[in-house]
Order: sequence, then structure tokens, then C-alpha cells
Amino acid sequence: MAEASKRPIVILGPMESESAWLVDQLENRQDKSVGAYTFREGFIDGYPVVICRCYIGVVNSAAATALVIERYDPLCVIIQGTSGAHDPDLHQGDIVLGESIVELGSHYTKHRGKGEGSDIFGWTQPGAEMSIDGELRRVSVLRSDSRILSVADNVPYTDGIVKRGTIGAADIWNRELDVIAHLRRNLGTDCEEMEGFGVAQVCSQSGVPCADIRVISNSEWHPQEEFNEKYGEQCQMFVLQVIRRLIAEGSLL
Ligand code: 5AD
Repeated sequence: MAEASKRPIVILGPMESESAWLVDQLENRQDKSVGAYTFREGFIDGYPVVICRCYIGVVNSAAATALVIERYDPLCVIIQGTSGAHDPDLHQGDIVLGESIVELGSHYTKHRGKGEGSDIFGWTQPGAEMSIDGELRRVSVLRSDSRILSVADNVPYTDGIVKRGTIGAADIWNRELDVIAHLRRNLGTDCEEMEGFGVAQVCSQSGVPCADIRVISNSEWHPQEEFNEKYGEQCQMFVLQVIRRLIAEGSLL
């Protein structure tokens, strides 16, 4: 029996290739649009689930997150999709469970005069300004909900490894190996994408459990591993198993 009165699980996927497969898994689907965003409401195993293609980038995904929180009072929000490897040992198809989600997009630079060029390695990260327990703080690292990750840890997966790790997020696609190595050395990033921190920031300011789950779809360390959107579907298949287990185990209730 479908239980529409329960707080839904919300899944965000930035691109069509990162959300359409999951939308097809919904039972009794109804679509509702708010501005540019369409919320696909339906049920998985009788439990309400809302899926939104949130579009690429921190601003889009943060806006979509604010809207779903306001409209649905969700049980949790899972942002999922593709990512580029920072860890040279990760390959296409591997999954990173974002234990930590790091802001890669706010920078302070040191003063340099005209003609003195630029030095990205000297840039510092002040972090995002966030209101936490009524106090304003600068935050550069947020965490996925440990209960969601514990469920994800136990999902069987045969197309690669599944590891807990650090996901970096900003509106940038880094392809310079020295920059990728620098980010990994300084911030511990295993992979990068463009949405996770915005979603986690809005969720954590609203007290909504959230998780970032990413498949590796490209790696600059391995030239043959160019971006391939088919991995978006693989991530959705993994996330469907996470949703099913969250529902069956009542982990967040
Ligand atoms: N760098 C940044 N974003 C990436 N994405 C996949 N690989 C990368 C990468 N190497 C994801 C982003 C965004 C879309 C362009 O693909 O999260 O949604």
C-alpha cells in the first residue's frame, strides 16, 4: 500500500543522464513544476520518492534543494551523479560515498602587481558562510548523513569498487593534473563534481539529512577514461538499491 503521507525521500540528479533512469522506476508518477525545476513524485516499494533533475552547478542544485525542502519536508536528500577522479587509483564505474564534501569554489588570492601573473597554488579557501545554531561561521567541509552511508556500504556492487571518501564540488571542471594533485594533497579529494556542496550546505542549514553519492565517469590520470554519460545510469542503479534499503530498514525513521 502506498503511503503518501510519509515524508518523501528526495533524489537529485543534475543531467538527464543522471536522473531519467530513476524517474522510470517510479510507480504512480505525477510531475509538478516550479520555475525551471520539475519534481517527479511517485513511489518506490510503496514509499514516496521525489526525483528532480536539478541541472548542472552549485547554484542550480542549491536552488532545487531549497525548493524541495520547502515543498516536501523530505526525510532526506540524496545528490548523485557522475564525477571526475582525483585519486589515481579510482576508475570509471567506481563509486565514492561522500563522507566529506569539500567546497572547491571559494578562493581568496594574495595581492600580485600588474604583470606578476597568477599562482593558483597560493590561493586559500575561506569556505562558505553558514548559519549554524544561530551563529555565522565559514565552513569548507560538510558531511553526508552517516546512516545513509552505512546503508550504502552494504549495497552489493560488481562494476567497480565502492569507497567512502572526500568529494570536492564547485563550478569548475579541472583537467590540469598539477591542480588535481594539489587539491588532493591539500583537501584530500577523491573526486570532483559541481553540485554536492551546495546541496549539503542548504540541507545542513535546514537540518535535513543529506548524502552525496558519485560514480567516477572520467579520470585525467588515465587518458582513455574520458567522460562517458553511461556511468550516470550506473550511479542511479546503485542509488535505487540505497533507497530500497533505506525504506526496508526504516533507517531514518
Ligand atoms: N569535474 C566537474 N564536474 C564533473 N562531472 C562529471 N565529471 C566532472 C569533473 N571531472 C559532473 C558535474 C556536472 C556535470 C558537468 O558532470 O557534477 O553535473
